[in-house]
Amino acid sequence: MSKPIVSIVMGSSSDWEVMQQAARQLQDFGVAHDARVISAHRSPDLLFDYIKDMAAQGVQCFIAGAGGAAHLAGVIAGKTTLPVLGVPIPSKYLKGMDSLLSIVQMPKGIPVATFAIGEAGAANAALFAISMLALNDAQLAQKLADYRRKQAEAIAAATLPALN
Ligand code: RP5
Repeated sequence: MSKPIVSIVMGSSSDWEVMQQAARQLQDFGVAHDARVISAHRSPDLLFDYIKDMAAQGVQCFIAGAGGAAHLAGVIAGKTTLPVLGVPIPSKYLKGMDSLLSIVQMPKGIPVATFAIGEAGAANAALFAISMLALNDAQLAQKLADYRRKQAEAIAAATLPALN
């Protein structure tokens, strides 16, 4: 198996339903990735070791999904200068607004690129990672252009049902 270029980390296995959208997108574009459950709160030592290990293996960016008091992306950004893309996971009581605000409100100096709450955010984080990788990969850039073209074609071909 080829070495991961992108790392997907999530705070709990309950986040996988959302975060698998990121993994699927990377898989569709043929981008090798690692996907792992590691919590900034519940297993901080493991997280630090993992970040070091992934950076040593040549990972180019981290996609971090977490819900509630979602510190995962921020903690990763504090430990590496690689780009960190944060995905707010919908939470039970606050519907992911807590996750969004936790991830997006990073203090000046330690940035996390924050995406939409839920599946769209997870998929877009992967597409954004692909855009960054495509800067130095012409084949990937072509795949991304094709992907965008198909979306435009689908919109152009869209029809509306007749009035009731
Ligand atoms: C966060 O707490 C995780 O990212 C997850 O979204 C949330 C709830 O985790 P579980 O209680 O389902 O394990 O750390």
